[in-house]
Amino acid sequence: MNIEGKTVIEVNNIRKEYVVKKHFLTGKTLEKVVAVKNASFEVKEGKTLGIVGESGSGKSTTGEIAGGLQDPTFGCVLYYGKNTAEMSEEEYKEYRRNIQFIFQDPKGSMDPNYTVKDNISFPLISLNIVKNKDEAQKYVTDILARVGLDKGIGGKYPSEISGGQCQRAAIARALVVNPKVIICDEPVSALDVSIQAQILNLLKELQRELKVSYIFISHDIGVVNYMSDTILVMNKGNVVEAGEAREVLLHPKEEYTRRLIESAFV
Ligand SMILES: Nc1ncnc2c1ncn2[C@@H]1O[C@H](COP(=O)(O)OP(=O)(O)OP(=O)(O)O)[C@@H](O)[C@H]1O
Ligand SMILES: [Mg+2]
Repeated sequence: MNIEGKTVIEVNNIRKEYVVKKHFLTGKTLEKVVAVKNASFEVKEGKTLGIVGESGSGKSTTGEIAGGLQDPTFGCVLYYGKNTAEMSEEEYKEYRRNIQFIFQDPKGSMDPNYTVKDNISFPLISLNIVKNKDEAQKYVTDILARVGLDKGIGGKYPSEISGGQCQRAAIARALVVNPKVIICDEPVSALDVSIQAQILNLLKELQRELKVSYIFISHDIGVVNYMSDTILVMNKGNVVEAGEAREVLLHPKEEYTRRLIESAFV
């Protein structure tokens, strides 16, 4: 698979084990779940890598490891060629600032006690990009316009806006710190079908304008294909197929991939 461009994130042979049962006295591991057995991939500047697979195949775990929300049990993540496990505190902060997330449930990912404007200001303040809410205002106004939200939405609480508007606000919050990569984990799965296309097209438009990269996670291979340059197909913690999006869709090598395609296009 040869996609041109500079590599932002490289994930090498990651494995993730969760201990689900320990001996109550000795603390010895009695049972573990292997969420990801082996996954490797690269995310290129301004491009989208799609991850598709059935529920429980390890997509979210893989995305969270790529973005530093979780550490792999084995394997490593490189950000512009540098192993994130060997970074200085400053380098690690820079890496984390540059990888933002959007999740399935936009309302759940916003703090309900604060307005949309405040929610979008938080990362700016916590990452020391601005000193206070007043300084954040200009960034917030700009980014709200960018994601197609009316200025007035900024003053509302997450519970007062629609799911689609809230997902736009979550996109704004991810973008406001000017990240290199946004990891989109099932970003349209909870939205009405009529709203889904709007959000997908907004993400595409923003990518063209801002050259941001995406890791786009979905169980729907149709949606993943629409969004992605390259695709990883995951099954039971393993990458079972990888390649250029169109190639995987038109000429799937695995029976599992064929089944995903059939279920998406019935
Ligand atoms: N914190 C955890 N502790 C124990 N097991 C976990 C944990 N997180 C995930 N798992 C298990 O790891 C496997 C992969 O989970 P993951 O959430 O990555 O899958 P997914 O492909 O994103 O699924 P979905 O499409 O349902 O979101 C599942 O079997 C899940 O139950
Ligand atoms: Mg998931």
